[in-house]
Amino acid sequence: MKRTLMLATAVAFGTFTSLASASGLPPLEQKERYKVGFSQMESNNPWRIAETKSFHDTAESCGWDLIATDAAGSAAKQVADVDSMIAQGIDVLFLPPREEKPLIPAVKKAKAAGIPTFLVDRSVDPNAAKAGEDFVAFLGSDFIDQGRRVAEWTIENFKGDKAVIVELEGTTGSSPANDRKKGFDDRILQDERFEMVASQSGDFARDLGRQVMETLLQAHPDVNVVYAHNDEMAIGAIQALELAGRKPGEDVLIVSIDGTRDALQAIIDGKMGVTVESSPFFGPLACETMKRYAAGETIEPWVQVKDRIFTPENAAKHIDEAY
Ligand code: AHR
Repeated sequence: MKRTLMLATAVAFGTFTSLASASGLPPLEQKERYKVGFSQMESNNPWRIAETKSFHDTAESCGWDLIATDAAGSAAKQVADVDSMIAQGIDVLFLPPREEKPLIPAVKKAKAAGIPTFLVDRSVDPNAAKAGEDFVAFLGSDFIDQGRRVAEWTIENFKGDKAVIVELEGTTGSSPANDRKKGFDDRILQDERFEMVASQSGDFARDLGRQVMETLLQAHPDVNVVYAHNDEMAIGAIQALELAGRKPGEDVLIVSIDGTRDALQAIIDGKMGVTVESSPFFGPLACETMKRYAAGETIEPWVQVKDRIFTPENAAKHIDEAY
């Protein structure tokens, strides 16, 4: 039976819970196996690779026949990947939208095709698509809080009288870049010791982070704090600083977000100050939330992930579990 017809029949005969149908969200049948789509945006860093692996690792135990794609850093390809999954008749879609706006039509198309969609790790513009209406829920971290926690740690641990900050932003138009900037800037600039002299995108990538840092160092040789929106750019910044004869950890404080193995090692080596965790291990949470939804539970619009903080005090204890 076609999905739209199944949906109409199910609603007419009350087969599914009233919650899913009352909200206008597509319902999800309880069954042994599901055809599941996971549309990854890119695989150019350890975080993304760990996230995709988490979905693969969860597939068998959750009864997923998983279709996983990689948009190779292109929002347009990610839209096309979702289109292809819809055409292949997936039951459920898990989507980390690369940027906040371009993926909105894909979310709405999945809903129109009767496919419940869960946004994982990144979200879309809340003014254009809403949890509980256009998609079931957002599963992810509080990115504003991550930025704020990095700022709090920096305020407590920066030793000098005057901090000159360079900020390396994530992908322009993405929810973590927007929110991590807001969380950090709002808090750090309340302390008059801190001045932000430059803030530029390194697209969440190590090599671009290094290149941007090289350029910004020439314009701002007095920089003594670098805030990177993810660990990959922080490591790139460390490379650029070392190449310029600077001593990360001694004359420049590097602070960041994610909790990758390389970042924890940099903290142990004294080159980085802190990384606030942003967990990529979404597979088990995606499974549990999908099953709750299929069982007729109302899913909270934001299934929030709680993050730890890695500092010189605990990095060695956690490095073996890092990715
Ligand atoms: O959306 C989460 C961010 O995206 C991670 O911090 C980053 O490493 C990834 O690419």
